[in-house]
Amino acid sequence: MSSKPLSDNTLSPPRLYMAPIRGMTDHIYRNTFADHFNGFDLSVAPFIASPSGSKIRKKYLKGVLPENNKNMPVIPQILSKSADGFILLANRLFELGYETVNWNLGCPYPQVANKQRGSGLLPFTDLIQSFLDNVIPAINGQLSIKTRLGRNTKKEIFALLPILDTYPIEEIIIHPRTGVQMYNGTPDLDAFATCLSLTRHPIVYNGDILTENDFNRLSARFATINRWMIGRGALVNPFLPERIKTGKHKPEGKIKKLKSFHDELFLQYSRILSGPTHILDRMKGLWQYFSQPFSDCKKAVKKIKKAKTPEQYQSLVDEFFNKETA
Ligand SMILES: Cc1cc2nc3c(=O)[nH]c(=O)nc-3n(C[C@H](O)[C@H](O)[C@H](O)COP(=O)(O)O)c2cc1C
Repeated sequence: MSSKPLSDNTLSPPRLYMAPIRGMTDHIYRNTFADHFNGFDLSVAPFIASPSGSKIRKKYLKGVLPENNKNMPVIPQILSKSADGFILLANRLFELGYETVNWNLGCPYPQVANKQRGSGLLPFTDLIQSFLDNVIPAINGQLSIKTRLGRNTKKEIFALLPILDTYPIEEIIIHPRTGVQMYNGTPDLDAFATCLSLTRHPIVYNGDILTENDFNRLSARFATINRWMIGRGALVNPFLPERIKTGKHKPEGKIKKLKSFHDELFLQYSRILSGPTHILDRMKGLWQYFSQPFSDCKKAVKKIKKAKTPEQYQSLVDEFFNKETA
């Protein structure tokens, strides 16, 4: 029987993790974010799928090469159900200097989960056990896990956590929704509380921290937790991590800072992506989050999303921010 960990909360201030959001929090985004905003201590990178053969293509690793991640500490994440593929990729990441890799046991998307990957593995504790029996002795570093409550039901994580207690796992990040729930409904905080009573491992809470109040409510309820992961809340409001850390509201110069963040992202993506279509697609994707703090901006954002050239895009964005600053 395993012993309970000491409360993490003795280590204040809270440790804040930038969540992996595929298509958004790539190395350009993470570095640029850390250049403009404070508050995150580290990030987990969006998943890399383990290779099916014995070769790891260099472009797979680009986003997690240490030289491309100078501004924010990062934990690479692997999506895999194959112990061999995972070991190969994890050991390559440890060779690059990483101390921890994260195993994605939470991805809810049917094209992943239907193949028993991500949250699709959660109903199969026997497969998870045999994966860990093979992987843990063979990797040259630490393993952490990011998971949901289950694929179909929270009973899955309740069955899994006591099994995970028998392995050396650095930490478990829990997003308290099931896979089939995707992002619907609210996180099940009672189920998260039960999870805490079923594990000896350090736990990171993740899910729907959108405001400082959300954080305060959660940290009051889960007093033993000191590790928090924030995804969409920080994409919509990049000032949120600092606000949580300092408790201070600093309204001055916010729009200017957001514009400077945007412009730097645009510059960086223009340098690494080939062709205006790729660059525009990438930038337009950001606007689903960028636009949310602004009211009455539907028309302007629609226009931005219709921009046909980078020049037209930049001029519409300048117009948008100038109007918001005025
Ligand atoms: C578009 C999108 C892509 C995501 N990609 C990943 C991923 O690559 N790996 C992962 O573990 N989680 C991924 N997630 C889940 C987030 O990391 C996080 O668990 C989820 O958004 C809940 O946290 P939040 O409410 O703070 O955003 C993704 C979520 C979204 C919406």
